[in-house]
Amino acid sequence: IIFCLIFSMLQASRGTVKPSLNFNATTDAEVLYKAMKGLGTNEDAILELLTARSNAQRQDIKIAYKTLFGKDLVDNLKGELGGKFETLIVALMTPPIAYDVTSLRNAIKGAGTDEKVLVEILASRTPQQVKEIVAAYRKGNTHMHNVLFKAGEQKFGTDEQTFVTILGNRSAEHLKKVFDAYMKLSGYEMEESIKRETSGSLEDLLLAVVKCARSVPAYFAETLYYAMKGAGTDDNTLIRVMVSRSEIDMLDIRADFRRMFACSLFSMIKGDTGGDFRKALLLLCGGDDA
Ligand SMILES: *[C@@H]1O[C@H](CO)[C@@H](O)[C@H](O)[C@H]1NC(C)=O
Ligand SMILES: *[C@@H]1O[C@H](CO)[C@@H](O)[C@H](O)[C@H]1NC(C)=O
Repeated sequence: IIFCLIFSMLQASRGTVKPSLNFNATTDAEVLYKAMKGLGTNEDAILELLTARSNAQRQDIKIAYKTLFGKDLVDNLKGELGGKFETLIVALMTPPIAYDVTSLRNAIKGAGTDEKVLVEILASRTPQQVKEIVAAYRKGNTHMHNVLFKAGEQKFGTDEQTFVTILGNRSAEHLKKVFDAYMKLSGYEMEESIKRETSGSLEDLLLAVVKCARSVPAYFAETLYYAMKGAGTDDNTLIRVMVSRSEIDMLDIRADFRRMFACSLFSMIKGDTGGDFRKALLLLCGGDDA
């Protein structure tokens, strides 16, 4: 247990968003209420407060808000904000596992599946998190409890058990050993063989699993880079990664980003976004590495 505590403290310390030390949920709920009261909205007050609290603290603020004002904080925020800034703020207010489940559900619903989201979440989360996501997914929607795996089967051509075993039961250490052994035997890097022997969604998934086994922060640095590179920005990916990694490994992602690409994550966000959306993202980024 002590090892787990120390481990989670070390993990938390690699994030840019940390719990506020003099936290008072009541005071915060009042600040947010004031920011939304009457005509006009004080977006700065909202984004500065919410990016300076941990997700757990945001849940306490939500409860305090309901107690004080009898209203749902997230509903009020949705009523006042709009566009991708609203999407970002609502994402910050959602507990991590619920956020992953919502992202997966949105990726699967409708005609085409956004397999990029499926691959990213399932390849990068720890086996324990994948188990919690799958459990929450099943609990939250009995009607659709198998949709995730149906999508997996169609996209990756595998049965449910294989899918769970690969994604929910891997260890980075073990996989790294497998890759090294494979390299010695075949003379090829795992990535080369995957590219040669698979294609489409299965290739994307396997490559993501290999990348995450080698380095999760490097995987996300690359994901962020390609979300912003070129014309147009993939706002949903930008939001998903910045929110979900802000308390986990954003400092490592920033360092890898600087190493892998010729600019800092901060400067790229600054150049590719605008307005309140940009302000909030830069606070989640937590600083420049120029
Ligand atoms: C939080 O602040 C309120 C006033 O805004 C105060 O009444 C309350 O005692 C504070 N709670 C704690 C735990 O300090
Ligand atoms: C994980 O792997 C172990 C050993 O290979 C196996 O016994 C277990 O059933 C697997 N768990 C899942 C969820 O696939």
